[in-house]
Amino acid sequence: MGLRMDEASFLQAFGLDGLEHIAAGIAVAALAALAGGLFKAGQLFGRRERDGEQFELRMNLKQAREKLEASESAARENERQINRMTSSLEETRRRAAADGDALLRIHDAIEHGFDRDLGETPAWRSQASRMPIIVIGNLKGGVGKTTLTANLGAYFGDQRFRRGRDGKPTLFIDFDFQGSMSSILLSAGRNFESGAMIQNENRASLLFQPGLEGAEALTLGRETPREHLEGGQFFDASVDLASHEERLFYDWVFDPGRGGDARLRLGSVLYSPEVQDRFGAVVIDLPPRTTLFAYNALCAATHVVVPTRDDRLSTQAARTFVQFLELGRQGFWPRLTIAGLVGLNTAQQPQQAEQVDRALEQTARDISQLWMGPQPDIPYCGKIAWMRQIAETAGEDFAYFNEVGQVVAGSPHQVFTELGDNISRNIGLI
Ligand SMILES: Nc1ncnc2c1ncn2[C@@H]1O[C@H](COP(=O)(O)OP(=O)(O)O)[C@@H](O)[C@H]1O
Ligand SMILES: [Mg+2]
Repeated sequence: MGLRMDEASFLQAFGLDGLEHIAAGIAVAALAALAGGLFKAGQLFGRRERDGEQFELRMNLKQAREKLEASESAARENERQINRMTSSLEETRRRAAADGDALLRIHDAIEHGFDRDLGETPAWRSQASRMPIIVIGNLKGGVGKTTLTANLGAYFGDQRFRRGRDGKPTLFIDFDFQGSMSSILLSAGRNFESGAMIQNENRASLLFQPGLEGAEALTLGRETPREHLEGGQFFDASVDLASHEERLFYDWVFDPGRGGDARLRLGSVLYSPEVQDRFGAVVIDLPPRTTLFAYNALCAATHVVVPTRDDRLSTQAARTFVQFLELGRQGFWPRLTIAGLVGLNTAQQPQQAEQVDRALEQTARDISQLWMGPQPDIPYCGKIAWMRQIAETAGEDFAYFNEVGQVVAGSPHQVFTELGDNISRNIGLI
């Protein structure tokens, strides 16, 4: 194997020859191959290294993108949360304002009750009633309010005598949740009509529906029983009346704009042309408390009659009632007239009758001092004797229709007729 000149000279230079030449040649070739391999490996390694960097860069980029997306969605979630919190804050603020308003209203309602100034003056307040609207009241129970209301209503509504204005029938209203007057009317109905038990329906509360018109009210009343009371109506009370009254009060406290002032609802019905045309007199039985319905009755009434027993507690309660009337006179019932004091005579001895009259006349003078209303004096209208027939008839019929005279004082019919005549004179009906 020949060596090229440069190789030969190379070998000569190092003093190599023969096999040594071959071995040296192989070594040189191996060295050259190794150098080439190393170079290539270096190149490959370099490329690998760059690929690794790129991969890493791509990975980093990908991670960075993912992080960016994650923070963007976190930002969106935060924004949604902020929006939710803002709207719930607004809701809380709105509720706090409403609750604060309600608290002020409750506070005002507790502080002033029914005594706060009337917020409005509907037209009927300056309209004269064509029929007497008579409220029977005393802040004591058991003084004969209910007995008097029912029988006075029967006196005015009795079609045989036509004592109501223009001979028209009576409208009876029961504002005592005890419902005693309703029982008198309902039981009279049972006795003289169907014979079946008739239920209390608390129609009196229906008179307070917001915006109730007179014509519609007339469809809600019950027909009065008894042929002599034909054409009359009554609005009865049941135990539910008290809770209706309370609900009306709170409806008014929380939503005063709805249905107008809760103390003036009855008046807007009673002064409507339909109701004014239909009846000759209205009688209203009050509970022995100053309730919201009592305010309604007094705001609408033309007259009050105050029954009292001839004992000190009852006359004291009559005084308290007149004081209460005086307190509300200018603000609520400026046109109200006290048509009279009526005695319920519990004295058993006939010889005590005159003494009772003197005492009740004195009470009438006393309460006149407390009252600054349109008429100078509160008249004493006479007394109702304590009669077995009256107590026995109660819950079964009107005592007024009992015309049998069995006692010295005369029949219940006669007693209530005399009393009714006195009251009619006082209110200018006769
Ligand atoms: N003149 C009277 N004679 C007999 N009992 C009467 C008389 N007036 C009322 N009563 C009875 O006395 C009780 C109380 O009368 P009531 O009219 O219900 O009073 P008030 O409505 O003021 O609570 C009732 O049981 C009633 O029947
Ligand atoms: Mg009563």
